[in-house]
Amino acid sequence: MMKKRVALVTGASRGIGAATARLLAANGASVAVNYFRSKDAALAVVEDISKACGKAIAIRADVRDEEQVKAMVAETEKSLGPIDTLVCNASIGFPVKPLTEFSWPEFEAKLTGELKSAFYCCQAVLPKMFERKSGCIIAISSTLSRHSSPGFIAHCTAKSGLDAFIRSLAEEVGPAGIRVNVIAPGLTLTDATAWLPEEQKTMIANMTPLQRVAKPEDVAGAVLAMASDLNRFVTGCYVPVSGGLLML
Ligand SMILES: NC(=O)c1ccc[n+]([C@@H]2O[C@H](COP(=O)([O-])OP(=O)(O)OC[C@H]3O[C@@H](n4cnc5c(N)ncnc54)[C@H](OP(=O)(O)O)[C@@H]3O)[C@@H](O)[C@H]2O)c1
Repeated sequence: MMKKRVALVTGASRGIGAATARLLAANGASVAVNYFRSKDAALAVVEDISKACGKAIAIRADVRDEEQVKAMVAETEKSLGPIDTLVCNASIGFPVKPLTEFSWPEFEAKLTGELKSAFYCCQAVLPKMFERKSGCIIAISSTLSRHSSPGFIAHCTAKSGLDAFIRSLAEEVGPAGIRVNVIAPGLTLTDATAWLPEEQKTMIANMTPLQRVAKPEDVAGAVLAMASDLNRFVTGCYVPVSGGLLML
């Protein structure tokens, strides 16, 4: 499905990004596994891919830093070739609390982190996509961009901004044959959600039409489907991966 494709997955040392890197590689893509702090975990993802006869490299970069993003894209292009598929997945942390307890710098760090990472990564890969008149950009948002939840005001606001950015970009680069879409996971079992009480996870599973919460592989499957040519006429879309908990 992804033979001869080159994919860059940000935040691929753990969670949804790691599952996505593995699945894209298993389907033939050469994959750049971006990490920030978890070098060993990123190398383990690369090793798993190599053992399964796939091709992958690990690249350290803080996706909120323009120079590091440019260097990551240049290294990917040099080692693997021009990037066909960019998955903006890296998780920008945020405190869970009400607005009255936030300082502006705390709130702003989430907003700018989320938007800067998409801005820098998209800007860095687009020139080669324009040259080749094809490409696929997928941003990992959240169902919380459309459906708020107490304490998640920074995350909801940042991911809503990401959705709008991606929609606008889809319109802008569509004429050049580049597709841009959002995959929006619901609650997914990763390190980022390990702190949630079990009762809350069970409650969400019970409210979900498919009666469970997501595993990282569920989200990776939606990313692969979106990246593949089977979705070649799909752009500017927001696809919830929430077992039906968010229906549009
Ligand atoms: N889990 C959920 O329930 C859920 C629901 C909706 C949306 N999402 C979204 O899904 C995406 C992945 O989340 P996850 O749950 O898989 O997170 P996770 O398991 O906590 O993994 C986070 C990943 O992001 C990387 N990362 C963090 N800051 C980074 C930075 N500045 N530069 C580069 N990489 C960075 C981490 O790299 P290092 O470990 O190497 O630092 C790690 O690979 C996020 O965009 C998140 O908002 C998650």
